[in-house]
Amino acid sequence: MNAATQIPGGNHENTMSELAIQLTDVSLKYNDFTALDGVSFDVEAGQTLALLGHNGAGKSSLIKIILGLIQPTRGSVNILGQNAQASQARNSVCLGYLPEDASFYDKLTGYEVLRYFAALKGVSQQRVASLIEEFGLEYAQHRQLKTYSKGMKQRLGVAQAILSEPKVLLLDEPTVGLDPQASQFLYGKINQLKQAGCAVVISTHELSLAESHLDRALIMAKGKRLALGSCAELRSACTLKTCIDFSELSERVKSNAYLQQFYQDGLLQIATSQKSEVVQHLVTQCQVFDFEIKEPRLEDIYHDLMGQTLRSSVEQS
Ligand SMILES: Nc1ncnc2c1ncn2[C@@H]1O[C@H](COP(=O)(O)OP(=O)(O)OP(=O)(O)O)[C@@H](O)[C@H]1O
Ligand SMILES: [Mg+2]
Repeated sequence: MNAATQIPGGNHENTMSELAIQLTDVSLKYNDFTALDGVSFDVEAGQTLALLGHNGAGKSSLIKIILGLIQPTRGSVNILGQNAQASQARNSVCLGYLPEDASFYDKLTGYEVLRYFAALKGVSQQRVASLIEEFGLEYAQHRQLKTYSKGMKQRLGVAQAILSEPKVLLLDEPTVGLDPQASQFLYGKINQLKQAGCAVVISTHELSLAESHLDRALIMAKGKRLALGSCAELRSACTLKTCIDFSELSERVKSNAYLQQFYQDGLLQIATSQKSEVVQHLVTQCQVFDFEIKEPRLEDIYHDLMGQTLRSSVEQS
């Protein structure tokens, strides 16, 4: 995640940029069960958002609300500047969607499936052919889907979602079943769509891929928004320390009165906000130049924030 493209605080509500997705105070009940509880966030055109959270956190429900497949019990949803109830905003050409349990009629061939969606969306046969080739399905395009592996079906599903070069792309766990090369390829494609101004929301449990490729993350817990921001912003919100590991002149560091306070287990352990101050001190006061800064990864941050929530819900009960 690239902090440079983010707005401090992870709050984009007041920017001049074009908002592609805007959810305000969205709640959803399935009978008596509250699946989503007062969730607000927005995604600008050309921005990518990872939707993270435990099983049952509400990620797929949120995606279905954006698509208009289910209606929220409360709150408003705007897509491409229009209230989501307006059919135009849901024009299938503008939206691309990969459901988490994507399945197509298995007597059709891969080519027939894409040709069918291309006809629905007014997409050329040329694009169908080029996507089949790009997704490595050329050799199997005339085979029935019942002969496809899980990853082959997933590639087809993703190709279907991006067929019309949508303005809003919603992918529910797109890398499940994809091999590492196919996942890299998919994120490359997502980057191309982002450059063309597409807003992308991806629900995933693969935190390292999300950290490397997506701009921001929305972390959900029990239907609520737990945190939202770039990796740098989430890092500041968690309790984890940044560690500085140094191999040379450790005595100089250990005996330095200012640095002593941070010295623990052979490392300097500091709050993320103190990083530049401590690094400057290391270089100018201790002449230590050979060191490694180890910042918490998104996976560590996720577990830390989830742990805080579980702890506070236990304390409240
Ligand atoms: N049609 C439904 N009727 C009743 N409850 C539902 C329905 N769909 C989802 N739920 C419940 O709503 C909650 C959120 O489900 P959702 O599918 O949005 O979670 P998720 O974050 O996508 O989980 P996962 O990571 O397992 O895909 C869960 O507790 C689930 O059991
Ligand atoms: Mg889901």
